[in-house]
Amino acid sequence: MAEHKYTRETVTSITQWVPHKLFSFSTTKPAGFTYVPGQFARLGLPLQAAQDSSPAIWRAYSMVTAPQQDGLEFYSIVVPAGEFTPRLAQLRVGDAIYIDKSAFGFLTLDRFEPGGNLWLIATGTGLSAYLSLLQDPNTWKLFNRIILVHGVRHEEELAYRQKILEWVAQGPAADGATGFTKLDYLPIATREALAHTPQERITTLIANGQLEALANCALDPAVSKVMLCGNPDMLLEARKLLSERGFAVGRRGNPGNLAVENYW
Ligand SMILES: Cc1cc2nc3c(=O)[nH]c(=O)nc-3n(C[C@H](O)[C@H](O)[C@H](O)COP(=O)(O)OP(=O)(O)OC[C@H]3O[C@@H](n4cnc5c(N)ncnc54)[C@H](O)[C@@H]3O)c2cc1C
Ligand SMILES: NC(=O)c1ccc[n+]([C@@H]2O[C@H](COP(=O)([O-])OP(=O)(O)OC[C@H]3O[C@@H](n4cnc5c(N)ncnc54)[C@H](OP(=O)(O)O)[C@@H]3O)[C@@H](O)[C@H]2O)c1
Repeated sequence: MAEHKYTRETVTSITQWVPHKLFSFSTTKPAGFTYVPGQFARLGLPLQAAQDSSPAIWRAYSMVTAPQQDGLEFYSIVVPAGEFTPRLAQLRVGDAIYIDKSAFGFLTLDRFEPGGNLWLIATGTGLSAYLSLLQDPNTWKLFNRIILVHGVRHEEELAYRQKILEWVAQGPAADGATGFTKLDYLPIATREALAHTPQERITTLIANGQLEALANCALDPAVSKVMLCGNPDMLLEARKLLSERGFAVGRRGNPGNLAVENYW
């Protein structure tokens, strides 16, 4: 029998964040599956709900977990008219999911020189890739400060908020070291008011300087590295604003200070 490029894995847990809209799930990890934090897997589901059908629909999903953790975790939206996510949302613990044997993607820290400040800017489920980075203790050793900005429509969509606040207070538990005071978390909602941040798009807050004021940190291309992930329109606008300030994606052999990943 021909060897497949994918393996059949099992769903091991499911967390609902916002019913019918946002959820996370964990799976077994394919034997020998390796990845760098920030990379994505290709997940496959059969067209039919039958457990033994071959996978026919594939979508990219950033890993939430760090490579040294057991299993894999993913964070997903449900797009009601989508082909994949309504099926994904029906999976239950014990069901099968197919995972490509290779991981992909360049939203990784090797794009940057170490040092300075790392800005992780996401809308919606674009947060996923940053959770993998933040769960890797190595990330915390590379930069003086990390500023995580998560933009959503409504407060309830601030998934993983409690876990992130624990990291703000303690650093990643896996590391065991003390003195982690360098993660700042800026949750931003655009369609309702939050207590400590303005009800504005992230791009507006970059343009008017409020994001820097909230973080008490300059977006200075000499010392800052920025990752952008999520809504392609946000990426386009943020990228334009940042390039006007001197941020640029790296070229071969020449590390940059900007890395970008479109989710659709
Ligand atoms: C590199 C990469 C990594 C990704 N990682 C994730 C991830 O970690 N979690 C995740 O939920 N999705 C992620 N996606 C998106 C994912 O691959 C699918 O597009 C998504 O699961 C929807 O699939 P669908 O077939 O239901 O709808 P699709 O037919 O794929 O998309 C239909 C429409 O839904 C909207 N849409 C798609 N994805 C999203 C999203 N994530 N948030 C808001 N609106 C969306 C867009 O308007 C899109 O045109 C990633 C995409 C890429 C390219
Ligand atoms: N959340 C809902 O109630 C709702 C309703 C209908 C459909 N949906 C489904 O959910 C998907 C949207 O998911 P989502 O809410 O996670 O993603 P989203 O639409 O990308 O919104 C996430 C955040 O990104 C902001 N944003 C959007 N475009 C931007 C831009 N050009 N520049 C700067 N910021 C920008 C949004 O601000 P704004 O609020 O200003 O847009 C919001 O704060 C749709 O594709 C649809 O399938 C959701």
